[in-house]
Parts: sequence; structure tokens; C-alpha cells
Amino acid sequence: MSLGANKRVLSGMRPTGQLHLGHYHGVLKNWVELQHEFECFFFVADWHALTTSYEDTRVISETVYDLVVDWLSVGINPGEATLFIQSRVPEHAELHLLLSMITPISWLERVPTYKDQQERLKERDLSTYGFLGYPLLQAADILIYRAGNVPVGEDQVAHIELSREVARRFNFLYGRERGFEEKAELAVAKMGKRNAKLYHDLRKRYQEGGDGEALETARAFLESQQNIALGDRERLLGYLEGGGRVILPEPQALLTPESKMPGLDGEKMSKSYNNTIGLREAPDAVRHKLRTMPTDPARVRRTDPGDPARCPVWKFHQIYSNDEVKQWAMAGCRNAAIGCLDCKQPIIDAVIKEQAPFRERSEEFVNDPDTVRAIIDEGCEAARSVARETLDEVRQSMNLVYR
Ligand code: TRP
Ligand code: SF4
Repeated sequence: MSLGANKRVLSGMRPTGQLHLGHYHGVLKNWVELQHEFECFFFVADWHALTTSYEDTRVISETVYDLVVDWLSVGINPGEATLFIQSRVPEHAELHLLLSMITPISWLERVPTYKDQQERLKERDLSTYGFLGYPLLQAADILIYRAGNVPVGEDQVAHIELSREVARRFNFLYGRERGFEEKAELAVAKMGKRNAKLYHDLRKRYQEGGDGEALETARAFLESQQNIALGDRERLLGYLEGGGRVILPEPQALLTPESKMPGLDGEKMSKSYNNTIGLREAPDAVRHKLRTMPTDPARVRRTDPGDPARCPVWKFHQIYSNDEVKQWAMAGCRNAAIGCLDCKQPIIDAVIKEQAPFRERSEEFVNDPDTVRAIIDEGCEAARSVARETLDEVRQSMNLVYR
């Protein structure tokens, strides 16, 4: 994974129903790791869910808290990451509105998910203003935290690209204050002689020699300087590259590899295929699902040899079993030495074991909804204060502060 110099991480998830093991292996495991290393913001994208589910909003309200409990269950730690709900930080909406003024409609029409989703969800009327603007709302979600890195799947990369374009346009339009160079030089001087020299050297190497590494070093250096005022930091960042102030830094997609988690039928695990195992599903139910899942259709009787390549169970072995177990299953299947239930047993054990800590943690939170509420309240407040700070800068740069 390559990380931008600005290491704040932000990602969101729509509240569209209970999470399953596919979400864990595809997204959440990654979030859990990121939270140890970076400042992380994770949020429930309830407004995003509205863009496609505006006709039935009940699902959204029913799953918002469950989603947070799912996150907490897999080990997202509110002491390390800030967890919040999008609609509880209304600043996202104001930034979305302001950005909408400078975003050409063609940029939004060009986003591939726009036409794709309209095709795919034909039964819903998605010819709405909100649906067209949804990637811009996502841009606002990201830019308002000045997040440098956004973990997303392949399908979302175009949205991050749009966020970058919008940020660039915003900085271009509103980062050109009067006397920018003088102010930037003043900010350089404020860092002290040695740091000022370092900054000037790196800036020169980048601007005159096109040295990208010098640019990265300078950005990381500014990042590490704690006592630069916010406005100055933006000037110093912008001055580095030769433009104006960078009010909204450009984020970068942190591509999450696609989950290899198979569903019970061997297809990708997905709610719409009805082949899932819930994140914190009860052991008995998990056992039943795995015991009854299909196997190689050629193995009608116990004595018929099978071929793991044609069996969804084998895909589970590839995720959950070590080499020894895999060899045992492979050989036992091909020469009919084991039955399918024997073959499934190590998987049943492994899945139940993987989920045990999830169930344990979730029990705590389900029994104590007040704690969950408090975690969310605190996260929303923390997120809000960051969002407000950005929005203040945005308003000022657009001359929207009247006195
Ligand atoms: N659009 C994302 C999805 O549908 C969810 C999302 C909304 C998001 N805002 C975001 C993801 C900001 C990353 C960053 O899955
Ligand atoms: Fe599938 Fe295992 Fe049965 Fe072979 S023995 S068909 S791999 S479940």
C-alpha cells in the first residue's frame, strides 16, 4: 500500500443491513489494522443510503446502530478511531452545497457508477438530483476532514478521482488570496532559520528540478511540524507546488483488494445472492448453513470420488485451512476416503472460532445500548469539531464571512 504524506484515513459504509463475513474479510479487517497505524475516521453513510433507498427509509434507521455494533464487534476501537454518523455532522451538507457551485454537471454524469447503478437498479427511479450528486457528497465527506487516504474498493476509485478534481478546482478558485507570496514567505520565516532553509531547498529542488521526492519530503516535513498555524500550513503546502493555498488537500484512494470470501454457493458472498454467513450469527445457524451447503454435484454417494475444483467448500478451505488440512481434504475428496461432512468439519470449526470474539464483544454492546450511544455521541462531536474547522476556512476563502 502506498500512503500519501497526509496520513489521516477516512472511510464510510452505507447502512443497508446486517454485515456478513464477506464484509469482514473485504473491508473491516483492513480497517482494524489501519486504526493502529493512522488517525482514522469511520462513518455510517446514512445520507448516501438515501440516494438509492429514499422510498423506504426504514431499513436505514434500523441498521445504523447495528452497523456500529458490527464495527465494534470486529475490534474497531473507539479509543483509536473516530466513529460517527454522517447526518449528525451537518457540515458535510454545507460543504456539499458549496462544492456543487463549482462542479460541472458533466463531471458527475461521467462517473461510471451513475449510469451503471441506474441500469442495475431499474426498478427504482434514480433520475434524481441527489443520486446524480452522490459522488460529490462523497467528495465533501472526504475533503471536510482533509483526509489523505481513503480505503475503498475498486468500484469507488472514480469517486476519489472526482474528489481530487473538485479539490483542485476549489483550491485554484479560492486559494489565490491577495499577497499570497508575501504571506507564504512570512510563514516560511516563522519556522526559524534552519527549517526555512530546508523548506526553500526542497521547494527549489521540486520546482526547478521536478524532484518529486523532494516534494514528498517537504510535505512530510510540514506534516511533522506541530506548531504551524492552519492557514500558514495551507500556504506553505501551496507555495511548495507553485500554486495558491491548498485549502482542501487532494485525497488518495487506498485500494482494498477485493475480498476472496466465497458465499455458501461458491459465488462471491453477497446479500443479494442470499449466500451469506452473518458476522455474528449464532453457532448453530452457522453449523447448519455449512452442513447443508452444496458440494461437488458428482459426489452423489459417499463412495463417489469428487473434484474440489468444482466444490464451493474447497474455496472455504483456501481461506480457513492450513496446508495439511487442505491436502487431507483434496486427497480425501478425490479418492472418496472422506465424506463431505468430514470435509466440512474443519471449516465449521474455523468459522465459529473466528466469530467467537465478534459474538463476545457484540453481546457486551447489545446488552448495553447506552455505551454504544455514548461512543457515537463522542465520535460525532469529535468529527464535528474537525469538520467545523475546515468549513470555517472554506467560508473565509470564499468570502462568505460577513461582518
Ligand atoms: N460511497 C461509498 C459506498 O457506497 C460509501 C461512502 C460514502 C464513502 N462516503 C464515503 C467511502 C467517503 C469512502 C469515503 O460504499
Ligand atoms: Fe467438496 Fe470436500 Fe465433498 Fe470434496 S469432499 S465434494 S471438496 S465437500
